Amino acid sequence: MVIGNDEYSIWRTAPDASRLCYQHFLWREVHKSNIHPSIDLNNKQDLRIAELAAGHCLWAMQVAEEYPHAQVEASDINLSLVPPKPDLPSNLSVSKWSFFDPVPEKWKGAFDLVHVRLVIQPFGGYLDPRAVLQKFVSMLSMRFRRLQNVKRVDQMMLEPGGYLQWDEYDYFDADKNNVYSANDPSRVPNPEVTHNASTKVWKIMMKTFQWPTEHFDRLSEYYAQAGLENVAAHRKRPPPSVFRGFFEHWYALIAQLLPVLEARDMEAGQEARHLLTQMKKDALLDGVYSAHITKSVIGRKPEASR
Ligand SMILES: C[S@@+](CC[C@H](N)C(=O)[O-])C[C@H]1O[C@@H](n2cnc3c(N)ncnc32)[C@H](O)[C@@H]1O
Repeated sequence: MVIGNDEYSIWRTAPDASRLCYQHFLWREVHKSNIHPSIDLNNKQDLRIAELAAGHCLWAMQVAEEYPHAQVEASDINLSLVPPKPDLPSNLSVSKWSFFDPVPEKWKGAFDLVHVRLVIQPFGGYLDPRAVLQKFVSMLSMRFRRLQNVKRVDQMMLEPGGYLQWDEYDYFDADKNNVYSANDPSRVPNPEVTHNASTKVWKIMMKTFQWPTEHFDRLSEYYAQAGLENVAAHRKRPPPSVFRGFFEHWYALIAQLLPVLEARDMEAGQEARHLLTQMKKDALLDGVYSAHITKSVIGRKPEASR
């Protein structure tokens, strides 16, 4: 059941909550950190970090603990997954905000890092994410740095601005970005050809929910259009330590989504159900597992001088 304009409400169930927590720790393991290693927040005073669509707030909680001098602000359209207040770090505040709503004035130009992860679902129906991206960019900081012996504001330098880190799976090319691992590669040399039920389910999901994979594939280009610089999309195959973990998560997600898929499109849902059974057989009988390439798109508001 979709509650109000909150498309995600159908997914916010108990199995979803535990799956999201599990997935958070898998993602953290991929980069061995929450903040992408290419982001440098050293030597920043009054550091402010925002986590949007934060869900259970695990990313924000860990970052608040890792950066005790930072002020971290987490938000989501729905706060039902957020831990109880006494369990939140004292430098983390949480508020309700939908990124389809206007950006609160107090957040404009405020943050040294804005982070968002795994939000393609609310863009179902092939929505263009650029208007929302523009909002994220408007939240990035532009700080003045007073040069020695300079008193006039027009002679101050602007420091390099805030970073945007947007993490997603690399949805666009399912055939390339759904990666496989087989226990016995000599027996199953090309699992992506012979054991590709997982890729087929991926395609069914993208099509049935009308996720705008083409737009998400162009995030780097959209960052540049929105004025960000040093833009880079970092793609990573999950390392062996968590490959199987990503498979289990993906399997659980499909199993959880089958009724939703069937409600949207019975034929597509039933095909996905059949493919899920095949995925299980492929794993149990042939030792074949799949995962997705993770993608972190990083950009930074440029330095400017006055
Ligand atoms: C797949 S979960 C990801 C949660 C978290 N970012 C993570 O990586 O674990 C998607 C999140 O987006 C939130 N969400 C959905 N639509 C939203 C909107 N319009 N504005 C803000 N958050 C939204 C959901 O409530 C949910 O917590």
